[in-house]
Amino acid sequence: METLHEQDKAVFMPRIGDKAPEFEAITTQGKIYFPSDYSGEWVILFSHPADFTPVCTSEFITFAHLEDKFKKANCNLVGLSIDGLYSHIAWLRTIKEKIEFKGMKNIEVKFPLIEDITMDIAKKYGMIQPGESKTQAVRAVFFIDPKGIVRAIIYYPLSLGRNFDEIYRALIAMQTSDRFSVATPADWKPGEDVIISPAGSCGMAEERMTLTNELKCEDWFFCTKQLNKDTVLNEILKN
Ligand code: BEZ
Repeated sequence: METLHEQDKAVFMPRIGDKAPEFEAITTQGKIYFPSDYSGEWVILFSHPADFTPVCTSEFITFAHLEDKFKKANCNLVGLSIDGLYSHIAWLRTIKEKIEFKGMKNIEVKFPLIEDITMDIAKKYGMIQPGESKTQAVRAVFFIDPKGIVRAIIYYPLSLGRNFDEIYRALIAMQTSDRFSVATPADWKPGEDVIISPAGSCGMAEERMTLTNELKCEDWFFCTKQLNKDTVLNEILKN
C-alpha cells in the first residue's frame, strides 16, 4: 500500500499564485534551471503524453511555428514528456524531415524539450493525473510570469489537442492586466474594451465617467473603458 507521503506527492499540484516549483533538467537544448533561467521573462511550461504520437506531433509543429510570436511577447516555451533525450531527439528530427501539418513543414523545434523518465518534474507540476494515465503526462500548460509565479494553468486530456489561439490570447491578456491595471472580459482580444475592477475604483467610477468620459458603467460593478489595440501591442510586443 502507498504511504500517505507517496499519495501526497502524486496529487501535488502548483496553484495559481504559487511560486513555480524549481528543478534542473536535461533538455534537447542542454541543461536548464527552472524557473531561474527565465527570470524577467514569461515562460510557458507544457507537457505532452508521449513522443511519436500524432496529436502531440501536431502540437509541436504548431508551437514551433508560433515560437517567434511568443518570443515577441517576451515568452519562452519549454516542453516536457516522460520520454528520454534520445527519443526526443529522434522524434523532433522526424518531425522536421517528414511531417507536414496544415501546410507547416520542415519545422525545427528550437525550444527545449525536457526529458523526464523519472517523472520527478511531471509529479512536481501535477502533470500525472492517474485517472487519465499513470504513465503519461496530461497536456498541461503552465503560464509563469517574470517573477516566477504561476499565473494560469490549463489542462487538456490526452485525446484533445490544445488551442494555441487561446494560449496566446491568455498570455497577452495577463500581460495587459499587469501593464494597465485592468481585467479582461470574456473572449477579450487587444482592441476590445477592458474592465475596471469595482474594488478601489468604482467609488470613483461614476465620478470619473462624468469628469472624463473615460469609463462606461452599466452599473456600479460593471465598468469598462477603451484600450486602444496599438497602445496594448506597442507596450507588450518587442519590435
Ligand atoms: C497523441 O498525441 O496522439 C496521443 C497521445 C497519447 C494518447 C492519445 C493520443
